[in-house]
Amino acid sequence: MASPASRRILVTAALPYANGHIHLGHLVEYVQTDIFVRFQKLRGHDCIFLCADDTHGTAIMIRARAEGRGEHEVIAEMRAAHLADFAGFEIGFDHYGSTDSDANRRLCAIVWQSLRDRGLVAGRAVEQLFDPVAGVFLADRFVRGTCPRCRATDQYGDACEKCGATYSPADLVDPRSTLSGATPEVRSAEHLFVRLEPLQEFLRGWTQSSGALAPQVANYLAGHFLGEPLRDWDVSRPAPYFGFEIPDAPGHYWYVWFDAPVGYIAATEEWAAARGGSWRDWWQAGDVPPAEIHHFIGKDITYFHTLFWPAMLAAAGLTLPTKVRIHGFLTVNGEKMSKARGTFVLARTYLEHLDPAALRYYYAAKLSGDIDDIDLNLDDFAAKVNADLVGKVVNLASRTARWLEATGLADRYPEDGGLFARAAADGAAIAAAYEDCDFARAMRLIMAAADRANAYVDAEQPWKLAKAGPASAARLRDVATVALNLFRQLAVYLAPVLPRLAAQTGNLVGGPIRSWDESQQPLVGLPVAPFTPLAARVDPARIAALLAATTPSPPALSPPSTAGAPMTTDSGAPLAAEPLAPTCTIDDFSRVDLRVARIVAAEEVADSRKLLKLTVSLGGDTTRTVFAGIKGFHAPADLVGRLVVVVANLAPRTMKFGTSEGMVVAASGAGAEGVYLLSPDTGALPGMRLH
Ligand code: MSP
Ligand code: ZN
Repeated sequence: MASPASRRILVTAALPYANGHIHLGHLVEYVQTDIFVRFQKLRGHDCIFLCADDTHGTAIMIRARAEGRGEHEVIAEMRAAHLADFAGFEIGFDHYGSTDSDANRRLCAIVWQSLRDRGLVAGRAVEQLFDPVAGVFLADRFVRGTCPRCRATDQYGDACEKCGATYSPADLVDPRSTLSGATPEVRSAEHLFVRLEPLQEFLRGWTQSSGALAPQVANYLAGHFLGEPLRDWDVSRPAPYFGFEIPDAPGHYWYVWFDAPVGYIAATEEWAAARGGSWRDWWQAGDVPPAEIHHFIGKDITYFHTLFWPAMLAAAGLTLPTKVRIHGFLTVNGEKMSKARGTFVLARTYLEHLDPAALRYYYAAKLSGDIDDIDLNLDDFAAKVNADLVGKVVNLASRTARWLEATGLADRYPEDGGLFARAAADGAAIAAAYEDCDFARAMRLIMAAADRANAYVDAEQPWKLAKAGPASAARLRDVATVALNLFRQLAVYLAPVLPRLAAQTGNLVGGPIRSWDESQQPLVGLPVAPFTPLAARVDPARIAALLAATTPSPPALSPPSTAGAPMTTDSGAPLAAEPLAPTCTIDDFSRVDLRVARIVAAEEVADSRKLLKLTVSLGGDTTRTVFAGIKGFHAPADLVGRLVVVVANLAPRTMKFGTSEGMVVAASGAGAEGVYLLSPDTGALPGMRLH
């Protein structure tokens, strides 16, 4: 099937962390990469799209502990959620693996051995803060304390938000662990490092002149890293750590950023093995013809992919990336996505309210292959999708297809004033724009062709021809044949962005769109199926509903981090507004059975302004359904997994929406200051009683 000119192209998107859900920011990357891959496949190239969950590291370990379950349970659940989100957005991976796989463990060992063999691994002691209560070494962001420079309290372990100072966590005045509130101890532990300086010459050459990086990225690396001696890269973590134990260093684990990119190869291995091939067919340098490797990443992970990863590949004698394609960050309405502003929209929330095709098109129209941030302006989003997709593209078919339902396409392609030929000639420029990931340019060229096609229909007025009866039937058929061919030509060009529209177009006329070349030749003499709606307008009310479902959440309150905070003077207002209740005895108190519970499901109650329906687990098989008046304060998706306190022996109460079998305890004032769920300290387990 592949023609002689066909290329072998391996494409990856960055592996999403398994400790969070996919959001609209991530989708900038996954949609972009998917468009590129679909384009290459449409062009007849041998292209595979690989990705995986990035499962290891401290964050997952801490999360699993907080939720009172094992890491493997957490990552399995998140994998299922990621796959559902990606499927919803029509991200067509050829394989989706996991960094926690056997293949990855084996491949990490191979790369590691190569580094060892070349003398590139060195060990030395590192002083790090250790939490004696939680029993873990603390990454910088798990330590807070007072800034050593300006004395601002409650600052992170690596930098002060008040004065901008950067320091090491050990320099903090009264540091404390955000995990347990304990005062960390400085402990020394052996770490293993990859020595990068011996690879300086190689990295300079590859970053500056291989063509893999955009000039601005190459310049940035030259200015910030290369030129001065490259610092060794710390690639091991002492136990306890959720990851792979290093085979020749028991008790030490590869740092998550060591095994994550190897996950690209592991995904290749799993994909290839299922087809009787090997990962070496794609990654072994010197293969003829060599495969191209394209990594799509966001700008925040540039140096992992442009310094550390090429160093690992080179040391192991593997193929270096042909291109590292780096994109900017998503902003929503001009600002950084933010939970507090209610613009941190999850993929799944979007899918409940709007059509994925609309977002795919909007991103395509915004992405030009450079590193600039892209903005999702929600008014512009609705206007653009409605004007272009619905107004220009779909409209072309909806205004003309029905005239052909009875007769099918004309048997000879009619005179169209050169419209089809002109758009066919544009194909080369559109393809070049896709190849450069300048999708914005591709969309502009396609919409210009759509404008010309609509002008043709406006001028020919087929609805008037239809009214004129049999005398103009032949002319009507010709006009509709031209219009439908121009529509299908657009659908071919848009197929990488809008796979569903392409499939629907194939059902309408001409069969599945399989090749870019179908844009070059009009169809004649074929039946036309009854027209079914292809895309709906973006209704601003749906956007409003989406934002309402993405309610602003108060800044994350992590109880342990405030537990050890210095005292401040608290206002007496809440107590004054709601004075203390009359004295009760310890027996009165013990009649109320308060338990730790885990929220395992959360959903909106459609007809209620206040309620969310929660399913909470008390451990084992014991669950309760509880209606909680916290709608608007917490997005359901954010609640799943967290521990709360419930009144477990409250008499069931029948409500309009169902029976509530308990109550989730939350703090609130007498006014409308908010509702705050209680969380137990790390280590508490579902079912534990509050005494
Ligand atoms: N696990 C690492 C990648 C390992 S690759 C060997 C990671 N994961 S991530 O989930 O944080 O991000 C996955 C990708 O999504 C990254 O390329 C990141 O830059 C991108 N994005 C995450 N948030 C984003 C925006 N708000 N906007 C655009 N892209 C963003 O990094
Ligand atoms: Zn400071």
